[in-house]
Amino acid sequence: MTDKQRPCVRYGIIGTGMIARVHAEALRASSNSELVAVHDVVPERAAAFGRDFGVAWESDLEAFLARRDIDAVTLATPSGLRADVALPAAAAGKHLLCEKPLEVTLERVDSIIEAARRAHVRLGCVFQARTVGSVRRVHDAIEAGRLGKLVMANVQVPWYRNQEYYDASPWRGTWKLDGGGALMNQSIHIVDLLLHFMGEPASVMAYTDVLAHKNIEVEDTAAAVVRFRNGALATILVTTGAAPGFPRRLEICGTGGSVVLVDERVERWVLTADEPNDMADAAALSELHGDLGGAGDPAAISIEGHREQIENLSRAILTDTEPMVSGREARRSVELILGIYQSAREGREVRFA
Ligand SMILES: NC(=O)c1ccc[n+]([C@@H]2O[C@H](COP(=O)([O-])OP(=O)(O)OC[C@H]3O[C@@H](n4cnc5c(N)ncnc54)[C@H](O)[C@@H]3O)[C@@H](O)[C@H]2O)c1
Repeated sequence: MTDKQRPCVRYGIIGTGMIARVHAEALRASSNSELVAVHDVVPERAAAFGRDFGVAWESDLEAFLARRDIDAVTLATPSGLRADVALPAAAAGKHLLCEKPLEVTLERVDSIIEAARRAHVRLGCVFQARTVGSVRRVHDAIEAGRLGKLVMANVQVPWYRNQEYYDASPWRGTWKLDGGGALMNQSIHIVDLLLHFMGEPASVMAYTDVLAHKNIEVEDTAAAVVRFRNGALATILVTTGAAPGFPRRLEICGTGGSVVLVDERVERWVLTADEPNDMADAAALSELHGDLGGAGDPAAISIEGHREQIENLSRAILTDTEPMVSGREARRSVELILGIYQSAREGREVRFA
């Protein structure tokens, strides 16, 4: 099949800030998707971005969504404005690939899920760590019962964001538009993996604080203990105040074996019944991707995970199937993080329905 004959989904980007550049590069590198136009409420930003990537730009949302050459949009606005653009985009028949978090309250998350359902468009959410082969291998091992009964998990995110990071975009560090701090913005990727591996949470107890930054409303440090419905316990310890920023770490322990991922790389893989032990095999899957990045520098993010998620959404559109991370899946991490905030605020255990 020649390039011209290959099915291709045509994308627009909404919100042309920092992460939108990763979207545009990922679209450029993708085999089944292409960027045709961008939109930002700030015309100069949209124009500069359009020029940089050689595509059309629009500062009027209605005109942008009226374009018939856009099949799908990636939504890279501030987190708490996602629903503002997702609802009209879905109503205009555009498939949606939303940045994480899907939105910052469950009501707004649900409004996006419902809008996509009503308009019969596909809805995916960017959690690029899910694309890494080692993550898929750990999930498969858990699903196959190879870790035995899950007993414990441990999440650590000792990341760093300097004060300039928060000062550069006024929405960052606010409850309304960021929805939270070290948890809702940076650590949501690993909270998503924790839930992907461990199942449904039953309850949580937590502390949060602002220890390393000025003029932000949200937490830059959080500690939580989660009890899962399957009985397992997990600790979550995250910050954006740990200079210079070390890799994030996720340990999953069961009666049949334990796995340690450091930035999605397999550091330990000991399954007691393994014959032979296939750690090298699982580790090789993470090496293929390289480092997804982000520990100390928010702009140093690999395009690979985004490219895979864009290609995955395009396949989902072309084959009428669910994307890798659906709206329902993306809702789970927002719900747990909001539970953590509630527990810290009210000084009590929060149970999930
Ligand atoms: N997947 C990841 O690893 C990753 C990394 C960084 C950021 N993000 C997410 O991407 C989103 C954007 O983050 P960022 O750091 O790029 O922000 P940013 O501030 O750099 O860019 C946001 C852009 O959105 C534009 N905008 C604001 N309101 C708008 C509206 N109503 N309609 C259209 N455009 C609007 C702004 O003008 C700005 O250009 C956030 O939700 C963040 O959580 C994800």
